[in-house]
Amino acid sequence: MEPVTRRNVLILGGVSAAALVGGGLLVWSEVQRGEPEPPATTPATGPSPTATPPEEDTGTLAEPEVLESSGGLLALTLTAALTDVVVAGRQVRALTFNGSLPGPTLRVRPGDRIALTFRSELDAPTNLHTHGLVVSPEGNSDNVFVMIEPGAGFDYEYELGGDHPPGVFWYHPHHHGNSAEQLFAGLYGAIIVDDEEPIPSTRERLLIISDIAFDGAEVHVASAGERTLGREGDLVMVNGQVGATLAAKPGERERWRIVNACSSRYLRLHLDGQRMQLLGVDAGRYAEPRDVDEIVLTPGNRADVMVTAAEGTSVLQTLPFDRGGMGMFGSPPSATTGADLLTLNVAGAPALALSFAVPLPTTRDLRTEQMSGARTITLAMGPGGGGGGLSFTIDGREFDHERIDAEVAHGALEEWTIVNSSPMDHPFHLHVWPMQLVEVAGQPVDHVDWRDVVPVPARSRTVVRIAFEGLTGKAVYHCHILDHEDNGMMGTIRTA
Ligand code: C2O
Ligand code: CU
Ligand code: CU
Repeated sequence: MEPVTRRNVLILGGVSAAALVGGGLLVWSEVQRGEPEPPATTPATGPSPTATPPEEDTGTLAEPEVLESSGGLLALTLTAALTDVVVAGRQVRALTFNGSLPGPTLRVRPGDRIALTFRSELDAPTNLHTHGLVVSPEGNSDNVFVMIEPGAGFDYEYELGGDHPPGVFWYHPHHHGNSAEQLFAGLYGAIIVDDEEPIPSTRERLLIISDIAFDGAEVHVASAGERTLGREGDLVMVNGQVGATLAAKPGERERWRIVNACSSRYLRLHLDGQRMQLLGVDAGRYAEPRDVDEIVLTPGNRADVMVTAAEGTSVLQTLPFDRGGMGMFGSPPSATTGADLLTLNVAGAPALALSFAVPLPTTRDLRTEQMSGARTITLAMGPGGGGGGLSFTIDGREFDHERIDAEVAHGALEEWTIVNSSPMDHPFHLHVWPMQLVEVAGQPVDHVDWRDVVPVPARSRTVVRIAFEGLTGKAVYHCHILDHEDNGMMGTIRTA
């Protein structure tokens, strides 16, 4: 592996807060003037690598290349670049990791080390976040305050503890101000941490669901209104494909790991005629599998699902989901429009009856423990942004990477009440420390449900409990509608 230059890499600290929030303010002054925004994505300079187009875009569902650790180490290079790809049968240009949409799947075990050389051929600053991994948020680990300049690189190193939870996680850029744009344009991939004791299934599948839109051959540049609502694409893809198919035999049992990699779209998944059992959301395994008819995943959430195949043809759909709206901008398209994601054809000789007993996890329930502290966090959208624009705030303030918003003592057990005073839903994400969902919109949660992104519906509140144990350091919490995060709805936390 070639050494990467760190010359152009900065750890944010010398940049003024005003410069950082400037992007958001610019958008708002443009709304007022009614002028078009500057293009957010312009072609990268230099040669753009050409990806091998998928063999068939609307054929059988393909999965990204898997890079697996061996002997406790996964070493890889991830290059972000503008790339020619085929989406829905059309030759277009998207941002990709290593030329593929989505990027490669990283497959590791608890206790492993990931040595990841990041190279940017983008034309805007970027960085990488390993969403949901319980790894240090500092130094060259999962540090979202790192800034990688265009043309530069960075050597990340992630140490997973021997007790790291198994499950599906994912990676995406997290540079404040352009994370939504870079995610939407194609920069995401999955990370799988294997179970200690495998969960029996006929086969495993990975379904990374994302949305995208093109103007001609280029990724659509979001308008100010789309940034307010959170941009959505009219193409909803699974593993970069639109309208793919899957085949199974009656009685087969498949484990589907589903990632909502959309920058703003909530998924409300429905699979008619098939039995779906939810093992858990994010890395939080339920005490026992739950039979479900629908699975709602906010942006950033993942689902671990068992599908028992029954003869027939079923379509995995995402149904319309109302996540609120904002004044003159109305509601996002997904409030009234769903999408067909893929078709499952179940036919043939029934599979042999096997034992699919799922090993049950031991989960901690913080509802039975004494909390050492409590806090209220208020998410708001409203007038009052600089220049008379609309602001996206947490506790009345826009993001400032130099300010510490929450100081937490290591070892604390806290109950957080997340209040949403706005007319839109906000999925609330906390890095490093998982949250146990206790109450949503006045409804107590009746089972143990650990997640790293929790829903906070419009004009309501969500209660979670968090154990600030294990890792320490400075990290962030934010709305995972990444346009809202880029516009300021993010805060900093330091656990020491
Ligand atoms: Cu997936 Cu801080 O984000
Ligand atoms: Cu994250
Ligand atoms: Cu939001």
